[in-house]
Amino acid sequence: MPTFDERAPEWDSPERIERAEAVAAVIREAVPLTRDLSVLEIGAGTGLLGLALAQEVGTLVLADPSVGMLAVADEKVRAAGLENVRTLRFALAADPRPAERFDLVVSLMALHHVPDTAAAIDDLFAMVEPGGRLALVDLDAEDGTFHSDPDADVHHGFDRGELGRRIEAAGFRDVTFTTADEIASDGRVYPLFLVVARRP
Ligand SMILES: C[S@@+](CC[C@H](N)C(=O)[O-])C[C@H]1O[C@@H](n2cnc3c(N)ncnc32)[C@H](O)[C@@H]1O
Repeated sequence: MPTFDERAPEWDSPERIERAEAVAAVIREAVPLTRDLSVLEIGAGTGLLGLALAQEVGTLVLADPSVGMLAVADEKVRAAGLENVRTLRFALAADPRPAERFDLVVSLMALHHVPDTAAAIDDLFAMVEPGGRLALVDLDAEDGTFHSDPDADVHHGFDRGELGRRIEAAGFRDVTFTTADEIASDGRVYPLFLVVARRP
């Protein structure tokens, strides 16, 4: 299976761009966006989701462990002249957390790539400002067919009830799930949830 670094130059397919725009619209509906918000995208890859929101918020940090993905994101930021956006090399549940906290942390299809979900959610909580929010989109529980490589080290989506309890255990409140989108692949349909939660 190619790494995310290797996949980065070809990552922005029409389907992924469309998905990120659809998810951005769902987040916009769920969380009021204003020009004074500091926003962090976790597992941002090439920044498809964050960059769809960049002009509606104050500052945006696109964080990802893959330097290849971040290089593509950096080039897009530079080409668009976005002075409120920067990239950060950061892996949830592995790297020391940045000292900074954010009004809104968003994420699309990244949590299932982090082996330790509980540690990842603790990191997410620590990076949200008190009063701020998490808006995270990922796969609902699936049968393991989503990733074509059966040996891929990934979670097979998440059960909403279990994940919601873990998010509350980390300290978040007002945890709500909705269906954000779905991915059709090989004759199957994989729903994606949006979970929004508030740090008290
Ligand atoms: C399926 S891609 C999604 C990328 C992007 N959010 C999108 O929707 O186009 C998963 C991303 O999660 C990143 N990732 C893997 N492990 C991670 C970790 N521990 N913390 C944060 N991101 C991680 C990968 O580098 C990759 O960019």
